[in-house]
Amino acid sequence: MRIDVVAAVPELLHSAIEYSIVGRAQQKGLVTIHLHNLHDFGLGKYRQIDDYPYGGGGGMVIRCEPVAAALDALLQEGQPDEIIFLSPEGDTWNQALANQFSLKRHLVLVCGHYKGIDQRVVDSYATRIISIGDYVLTGGEIAAAVLIDSVVRLLPGAIGDEGSALTDSFQDGLLAPPVYTRPEVWRGLRVPSELLSGNPRIVEEWRFQKALERTERKRSEGLKSKTEDTR
Ligand code: ADE
Repeated sequence: MRIDVVAAVPELLHSAIEYSIVGRAQQKGLVTIHLHNLHDFGLGKYRQIDDYPYGGGGGMVIRCEPVAAALDALLQEGQPDEIIFLSPEGDTWNQALANQFSLKRHLVLVCGHYKGIDQRVVDSYATRIISIGDYVLTGGEIAAAVLIDSVVRLLPGAIGDEGSALTDSFQDGLLAPPVYTRPEVWRGLRVPSELLSGNPRIVEEWRFQKALERTERKRSEGLKSKTEDTR
């Protein structure tokens, strides 16, 4: 897989893509991630990327030209599967979308900053607009990091234990059950006996029941609907 990110502050993504599973996935050649600084496509001597909003009001708006120039340069290299703009008004990101996007070959992510991106360039290039939740971040960079992390960990070979990503929360529409490791007793608190039984059927049944309990308790509105792509 290839992922290109166009951002006003690409530095915000450095640690998210260089370490842990995403960093190792790059080293293993499962994914290549390219960061592109919008200022490199900025206008004039000062590489301007933003301007005042028409109609007044506070904040700055990212201009069309730098975004279009960055995307046109990428499009010269080939057609990506998706050009995704990160923005609070997009479709809410979830595990079903992460699964779907993990099957793509080439994703381009465009991060807004300040008040947002001029709508004309969004309408001209976006194949998808994604939000990571109903709150406003300073920019789309952290949202892009969330998206990349959740997609890359699903690539075959990204996680050492092949089964691990499949037992994550949401993969079966349920939250994951609680987990325990050594010591067996910590401050008088014992690891549930089912996990020490050595019987895979007992372990599996216990995990399933705990996952159900957790999901009912914490996601009473029904988690199933959240794992469906509502597009
Ligand atoms: N940019 C600012 N806030 C955002 C959000 N919640 N999701 C995606 N991109 C954003």
